[in-house]
Amino acid sequence: MADAPATPPVMEQIVALAKRKGFIYPASDIYGGIRGFWDYGPLGVLLKNNIRDHWWNWMVECPPIGPDGEIVDMVGLDSAIIQHPKTWEASGHVAGFNDPMVDDKETKERFRADHLQAIFFLEPSPEMEIGKSYPVSADAPAADSIPHATVIASGPGEAASEIIANKAVRKLLGIKNVLSNMMVGASLGAPDYVTLWVESSRGNRYVYIRNIGQQFLAHGYEKTPSPYTAKAGALTEPRAFNLMLDTYPGPIRDESNKAYLRPETAQGIFLNFKNIVDTTRVKVPFGVAQIGKSFRNEVTPRNFIFRSREFEQMEMEFFCPPDDALKWYEFWKGERMKWWLSLGVEPSRLRFRDHDADELSHYSKATVDIEYRYPFTDPDYGELEGIAHRGSFDLTQHQEHSKQKLDYFDQELQLKLKEQGATPEEIKQRSRYIPNVIEPASGLTRAVLVLLCEAFTLDASRPSGVYLKFKPKFAPVKLGIFPLVAKDGMPEKARALYMELRTQFACEFDVKQSIGKRYARMDEIGTPFCVTIDGDTMSSDIVTIRDRDTQEQIKINISQVGEYVRERLK
Ligand code: GAP
Repeated sequence: MADAPATPPVMEQIVALAKRKGFIYPASDIYGGIRGFWDYGPLGVLLKNNIRDHWWNWMVECPPIGPDGEIVDMVGLDSAIIQHPKTWEASGHVAGFNDPMVDDKETKERFRADHLQAIFFLEPSPEMEIGKSYPVSADAPAADSIPHATVIASGPGEAASEIIANKAVRKLLGIKNVLSNMMVGASLGAPDYVTLWVESSRGNRYVYIRNIGQQFLAHGYEKTPSPYTAKAGALTEPRAFNLMLDTYPGPIRDESNKAYLRPETAQGIFLNFKNIVDTTRVKVPFGVAQIGKSFRNEVTPRNFIFRSREFEQMEMEFFCPPDDALKWYEFWKGERMKWWLSLGVEPSRLRFRDHDADELSHYSKATVDIEYRYPFTDPDYGELEGIAHRGSFDLTQHQEHSKQKLDYFDQELQLKLKEQGATPEEIKQRSRYIPNVIEPASGLTRAVLVLLCEAFTLDASRPSGVYLKFKPKFAPVKLGIFPLVAKDGMPEKARALYMELRTQFACEFDVKQSIGKRYARMDEIGTPFCVTIDGDTMSSDIVTIRDRDTQEQIKINISQVGEYVRERLK
């Protein structure tokens, strides 16, 4: 039996559309690209900036009302990408920002040992249906039975390489037919789910994926088969690999001049804590927000822009009295989820995941991730934002390393303690402290990915076959303006409307091709509204507005078009 025709996995379709329509290109495309780097094209930069502006507005310009009923005190910052190298010693990044890296000695491929995944096979049980996912039952072969599995690659929760997995499944089983490649693609990031039905010469099987990174790190590099050649003994011992990219500012290129491209925007905020307290009117509790580029020399950048080596973060450090830290942690948890929902993300595709104690970063007292069900992790979820209770770790470290006092005198607390009759000793001790920090840290470029995934809607009934269902506020182009035909004064009238509205929001004017083709083009880039100038407009100023999602058309007066769109961008 021949292989079934392969439908590209949904993620591949999204990546192809993103390139075809000018959202995201591989960086240095004409030279064959550079792994882990991406360029945001004319539409991508509009989408990214729309999300960025929404975050900035929500966090800095119009911050929320806090648990005490007051508007949260918040300021912004734009710190340098390169900071004093001591910053990264104090923060723990020089010593501890490492991933365990393994090489295949023969192919020189490199991957993260802790992200290793393996494929396991299972006899199908009668109740299993093709195309559905099932949690792997407890009696399935355990993750430490590595020799009985095919090691596929690295990247839990983010899909190991679909191609490698596909090849591995086919080779191992002498496959006659993989019934749906899409199922392979959709499932691989979801460890511990039975997801793929295969017909093989040895009978029908279900396949599931398990993370075996921990087993590998504990006792496995000699006996684990290479994901690339399937040979045992082909892998090197895991080695710590520091993720910071270095550079040498100034004319002399030696170790004493080594500096780093920041791996997070957060540290720039801690370095400016004292400056901000001394030069502005903020009082603890307050937050400092920053958006900007970060760089990590990721061992395995993958899944489009999900994990790249250059990316943008939106981070906020909220400084509060130690006694109130948990209250603020809970508050920001709720606020941040509200923000993601405000982007129009389907609630069932978002969730909180608390970090286990052994997963917490060295500085953190509690961390929760907001996760999204990406097409490549489905039915599992992948990280989108981390909200961490960092205690007083960062300011304490920078105080020690810089020898500058970074504690805070809390006058209001001093008064409160006096009123409560605390002893002078207690007042002195408690009203001067190093603030605790609650940090919501999210990826702007990851948010772009989420909105692309969320908006991508297949619709076979449309000429485009697909449309991007962005909430109008985030759509790169808000309005398409078309004359029905390129004659009878319609192009001139449409152009006059374009000239008027283009100064207010992003519009496109298009006279070419049939009206159906022009709608299709707007559908593919997610333009929520199109207005057509037709015979009615020429005789009585009535235009037709088409809604991208419902494809319904309504008629309004040409003078109301601007207001109609503006209303829907709120
Ligand atoms: N200051 C804390 C911090 O940086 P993180 O969890 O390492 O925490 C925060 O990063 C967010 O930044 C992540 O939730 C993710 O959205 C984004 N991010 C991290 N590494 C990334 C990468 N290599 N590519 C794209 N986005 C990344």
